[in-house]
Amino acid sequence: MESTLIEKSTLEAKDFLPLNGTDHIEFYVGNAKQSAYYYQAAWGYELIAYAGPETGIREYASYVLQQGKIRIVLTSAFSATHPIAQHQLVHGDGVKVLALWVDDAKAAYEATISRGAKSAIPPTDAKDEFGEVVIAAIETYGETIHKFVERKNYNGAFLPGYKTAKSNFSVKSVGLKHVDHCVGNVELGAMNQWVKFYEDVMGFKLLLTFDDEDISTEYSALMSKVVSNGNGYVKFPINEPASGKKKSQIEEYLDFYKSAGVQHIAVATDDIIATVTELRARGIEFLYVPDAYYDDLTARVGAINEDIAKIKALNILVDRDDEGYLLQLFTKPVQDRPTLFYEIIQRNGAKSFGKGNFKALFESIEREQELRGNL
Ligand code: FE2
Repeated sequence: MESTLIEKSTLEAKDFLPLNGTDHIEFYVGNAKQSAYYYQAAWGYELIAYAGPETGIREYASYVLQQGKIRIVLTSAFSATHPIAQHQLVHGDGVKVLALWVDDAKAAYEATISRGAKSAIPPTDAKDEFGEVVIAAIETYGETIHKFVERKNYNGAFLPGYKTAKSNFSVKSVGLKHVDHCVGNVELGAMNQWVKFYEDVMGFKLLLTFDDEDISTEYSALMSKVVSNGNGYVKFPINEPASGKKKSQIEEYLDFYKSAGVQHIAVATDDIIATVTELRARGIEFLYVPDAYYDDLTARVGAINEDIAKIKALNILVDRDDEGYLLQLFTKPVQDRPTLFYEIIQRNGAKSFGKGNFKALFESIEREQELRGNL
């Protein structure tokens, strides 16, 4: 008993960057007002807060939306020379901020800076009648940043500067609960450098490695390593292109995003059949896997609780590991550039990432790349 306690306290002492989870994800987009409508109507996020000219912000507008524990922020600038507009011009719509919820933003900033992180925003206090927050940020791959958000005593709509807002039509949830993982694509040869960054600078642990043997199809390949923070709440897979006969999907991303950046965000549901049925009805486009995928499904993954006919009709993928199984499905890119997409995931015990589906999935992505003339 005593040794268990000592071990636990030693482990906690080693976690110099304790994280409570993902605080929010901020996108810089071309038209935040219209993106906010898309995420409300199609994805079932409720509008909860807003900042813009009406709240004294003269240079940009931000819409904050929430579903379950997932909070996203959509931001557009008003002037071509504003850094938000510059980011959108270069990268298209994409993720700028992966914000992490901490109890002490200054300590998180100082711990990571002292280990080699580059500063994006020094610790800054902000106050309004609802309390106080502290925000700091460090750079990660591409132009993406990690914000540390300390909101211990804050009970406003989102952050100081934002006012409470409500959707002006009836928004129906699709059952999304929380962020499962956020994946970054980095340049050829840069994966290990970024894994080292998460290990050394942020105290994450390497969880899994996929090499090009695991992930090669006939034409193209990628390599991937998954890092996770101390309590496992935050998981960041990092991909880099591997050489194949034709262009890797990661190279296609880098060509169009113009730098490293966030490739996909996996959002969790407890009922993937209901979630995907609703998303399809609302026009969300998903990658297609051929019917043959389902021919030997039960032999491959064993018995599952869900109705296989429904899984097949919705084109949902299934994989199993030592701890259970998972169901997953990937959208097509959600903007014109073949960059960011979403994964819908339901975990029934499995803690892995669907390795058994990589081949079918990447062949599907290659069909899309070919249609775009990018294979
Ligand atoms: Fe994923």
